[in-house]
Order: sequence, then C-alpha cells, then structure tokens
Amino acid sequence: MTAQPFVVVAGVGPGTGASVARRFAKAYPVVLLARGTDKFEKLAQEINDQGGKAIGISADVSSAESLASAFQQIEKEFPGANAAAAVFNAAAGFVRKPFLEVTEKEFASAWEVSQKGAFLFSQHVLPFLLKHAKDSSASHPPTLIFTGATAGVKANARVAAFATSNFAKRALAISLAKEFGPEGVHVAWANIDGPIDIPGRDDYRKDLPAEQKIDPDEIAGAYWGLHVQSKRAFTNEIDIRTSVEKW
Ligand SMILES: NC(=O)c1ccc[n+]([C@@H]2O[C@H](COP(=O)([O-])OP(=O)(O)OC[C@H]3O[C@@H](n4cnc5c(N)ncnc54)[C@H](OP(=O)(O)O)[C@@H]3O)[C@@H](O)[C@H]2O)c1
Repeated sequence: MTAQPFVVVAGVGPGTGASVARRFAKAYPVVLLARGTDKFEKLAQEINDQGGKAIGISADVSSAESLASAFQQIEKEFPGANAAAAVFNAAAGFVRKPFLEVTEKEFASAWEVSQKGAFLFSQHVLPFLLKHAKDSSASHPPTLIFTGATAGVKANARVAAFATSNFAKRALAISLAKEFGPEGVHVAWANIDGPIDIPGRDDYRKDLPAEQKIDPDEIAGAYWGLHVQSKRAFTNEIDIRTSVEKW
C-alpha cells in the first residue's frame, strides 16, 4: 500500500502559511518550514490536537544545506511517501526605498529567498510530486504553488529588490508549469494583489479597514481549489484581490 502523501509549506507564519497549512491538514499530513520554531510550534500543536498531523522543521529556504537536511527529516518522518502538494510561501523582508539607497545586501536578500529559495525548494520537492503524479490512487494531481505579489507583474518605483525577485519567482513558476505539466504536476503562481490581513499583526497597516485586506483563509481556500483541479483544466496563474483593490 502506498504511504499517505504529505504536503509541505515553505514559509509558515501567522498569515498565509498558517492558513494554507490548516486547510491542507484537513486532507493530508503537513510539514511546516520556517526558520523560527516559534512560527510553527503552536500551529503544529493546534493541527495535531484537532486530529490532523503536522510536523514543523526549522529550515532556511535560501540555504541548500538547510533544505537538504529538512528533506532528509521529511523522508525519515514519511518513509516512501509522495508529496500531494507543496507551497512556496517564503519572502524576504520588504524593502521600499529610493533605488540609489538600496544596499547590495538588501537586494541580494530578496533574491536569496524568492529566487534561489524557490529554485532550491522546487528541486527538492519535485521528485516527490512526480512520484505522486504516477500514483494511480492519488485523489488529485500533485500541486506546486508559489505565493506571489503584485510586484511579480507590476514593478513600481522604490521596490526594485522586491519586484525583480518576484518577477523571477513568477518566471520560475511558468517555466516549471510548462516542463512538468505534461508529466502531471500542476504548477501555479498566485498574485496576492494587496495587503494580507495577518492575525496578530495589529501593527500591520492597522488603519486599513478589514475589507481592504485579503483574508489568508480565503487564499488557502483558493489554493485548495487549485489543488483539486483535474488535469483537463489546470489554472497556472491566479489573481487574488479584495473587491475594492485599485489595480
Ligand atoms: N503580507 C502581505 O501583505 C503580502 C501581500 C502580498 C503578497 N504577500 C506574499 O505572501 C507570502 C507570505 O505570506 P504572509 O505575508 O501571509 O506571511 P506568513 O505566511 O505569515 O509568513 C511567512 C513566513 O515565511 C518565513 N520565511 C521567511 N524567510 C524564510 C526563509 N529564508 N526560509 C524559510 N522560511 C522563511 C517567515 O518565518 P521565519 O522568519 O521564521 O523564517 C514567515 O513566518 C510572500 O510570498 C509575500 O510576498 C504578502
């Protein structure tokens, strides 16, 4: 009998990462990756207490060694299992400042996570997704989703590091969708077009009314919707914004 497939979320925090983990945990064991254990310990406990299965692993997606070690732990925890879905949700700190003041470190840090991290994560997880694509008992096609931002389609002034690294992440998603779609892996990029309403982040755009902030549970619902699409109707790009967003 095939081992139960797992789902891995790279970049778990209280917002999108946690919502996606909770949604996919209704159907699969989930692996939560973040650098800080504080980002996943309570969440894993919550999912396990509610009858799901979650494990958290401290990992930095921008480090090849760290990701290799995380995937070794995953293989140990779920021997022989495939991956039903993988979500790349990590991003470096947002830098908005005049271009001439952007430091090399700030620029590189955006690329380290959104471009190199997305590349490393994809290389590690795709073999598990490809195995799932060949499993005739799989309920849905394996899914690899990249959380993106407006900056992946629209480069605005003063956000050069964020925009260029997001364009790169989107380009990676498109390239992988074309390479691995024919092999049965559904790759999608999500444009999260607006601020996310992150629980517990009262400081975060606190003056914005709720209707101007995107509900992360709804993002998770949309990701689940992508996951359950059949091979005869893959959506490879999706825009998510509030009804009042100017775009
Ligand atoms: N927040 C917004 O308003 C907004 C708007 C549009 C798009 N987005 C996109 O949404 C995604 C993030 O979702 P979210 O904002 O709701 O955040 P979230 O899911 O609450 O948290 C993301 C998590 O990523 C982890 N992370 C960052 N760098 C990492 C690394 N190098 N390795 C492993 N994990 C890492 C962080 O934990 P550690 O620091 O402990 O690693 C953080 O907790 C990003 O792609 C972002 O560009 C966000």
